[in-house]
Amino acid sequence: MTRPETPKANRALQREHADPDEGERPLPWFLVMFLGAMAMWGAFYIYATPSGELSEYGDQRTVAALRPPDQAAGSAAKIDGRQVFGARCAACHQVTGLGVPGVFPPLAGSEWVLGDEKVVIRILLHGIAGEIEVKGARYNGAMPAFKAVGDEELAAVMSYIRSDWGNQAPRIVARSVAEGREATKDRTEPFKGGQDLKTAP
Ligand code: HEC
Repeated sequence: MTRPETPKANRALQREHADPDEGERPLPWFLVMFLGAMAMWGAFYIYATPSGELSEYGDQRTVAALRPPDQAAGSAAKIDGRQVFGARCAACHQVTGLGVPGVFPPLAGSEWVLGDEKVVIRILLHGIAGEIEVKGARYNGAMPAFKAVGDEELAAVMSYIRSDWGNQAPRIVARSVAEGREATKDRTEPFKGGQDLKTAP
């Protein structure tokens, strides 16, 4: 069997040297180990990092903190007394609770605020028009009635004024406000000053 004539192109291939090639150059072993270690550490980190349940991670806020206050869970936290105070009372009694000397009496350290809760409830529900002595000073202005405001909101603002500015008196619950409302439901005008507040039924 005669060999078929080698085609021209093959002859050229046999004559020439093979193309040089780069040979094998594996990655250095320490680099491979290092990359492997990085990958393992990454996997472990992802596995070990708690997501969602722990507020120490991220910016430390939980979902509850991001909701508006009135949607927050728990009925006690529903109404922010400080906010109510800012909206309804601070114009006269001031954010500091110190009032304006001679015009608006202070709530900070006031014997009325810290005293019997029934009296505080009466003041808020029906207001005062007449002379009242607060911390040794006499006032003769007009405290508006907040009868139209709900029990929860009044309880929140009363609890607030009894607990800020160094005041320390027990909080007032909405049920007490409702009872005070019922007990004074026949009243149509404000209390006539401090004496009336103490003696009125
Ligand atoms: C328009 C101004 C005005 C607003 C608003 C007002 N007050 Fe008064 N408040 C007065 C005046 C004036 C007196 C003193 C009444 C007097 O002289 O007869 C007073 C008296 C009081 C007293 C009894 C005296 C004392 O200093 O402890 C309390 C308690 C009180 N206010 C709480 C509140 C709360 C709580 C609010 C908001 C819900 C509020 N007031 C909103 C003007 C205001």
